[in-house]
Amino acid sequence: MTVVLKLFKESIARNLRYPTSGPVGWYINKYFFENKTRFYLKEAAVEACNISKDDVVLEVGFGPGVGIKEAYTKIKDGNGKIYGVDISHSMIRRASGALQPQIQAGKVELILADVAKLPFESDKFDHVYHCNCYYFWDDQVACAQELHRVMKPNANMIAAFYEREIKKASEAGMLKYGNTDPDKYMESLRKAGFQGIELKKWKNTKGYAFSVIVSHK
Ligand SMILES: C[S@@+](CC[C@H](N)C(=O)[O-])C[C@H]1O[C@@H](n2cnc3c(N)ncnc32)[C@H](O)[C@@H]1O
Repeated sequence: MTVVLKLFKESIARNLRYPTSGPVGWYINKYFFENKTRFYLKEAAVEACNISKDDVVLEVGFGPGVGIKEAYTKIKDGNGKIYGVDISHSMIRRASGALQPQIQAGKVELILADVAKLPFESDKFDHVYHCNCYYFWDDQVACAQELHRVMKPNANMIAAFYEREIKKASEAGMLKYGNTDPDKYMESLRKAGFQGIELKKWKNTKGYAFSVIVSHK
């Protein structure tokens, strides 16, 4: 493998964990976060949440905001609100640009924050979801405990991923800065007090099959 290709892959791996601005950040946005199949993944996560129009919802690690836009469609005619947290300045800027009307209307709020320390009171959210994200949480149990804290009793949480892509990306070394093991994530949920933890297949109307890990407080 040429040195340039090696450096490119290394940069992709880093950007998947912490997206930055610049050419590689642009590349992963276009080909990883915003392409059609990845849109279906966010759509699957939102559908699996079963959001009603007055619900308060949190997306963790929203990237460019594709999932937030989808979740917004569920609450736009009610009193609900969609919150997003992400650790990347670049993703906050990009998603804020894409979601200006929804932010101005007070229906969406995007916050620079780590899932390990959420700037919310306890028992706030009806639903939490995240797509291609838990891999990057350094202490999954502590992060799950923090999410459990901010969820209302019985609120559900959905983790969505596309197994085939995860396998391909892992084999290419692009996920070396994360841990994609679903069993480890589910064990962390158990330790944090989540219930009803289950790995399910989710097929969308176009026939794409995704994996979702469902759980509730
Ligand atoms: C692979 S990207 C996925 C983006 C988007 N969810 C998607 O599927 O297109 C992972 C995202 O999670 C964010 N992230 C990683 N670790 C995080 C943490 N500890 N707390 C909040 N966000 C985090 C990254 O900044 C990035 O935007």
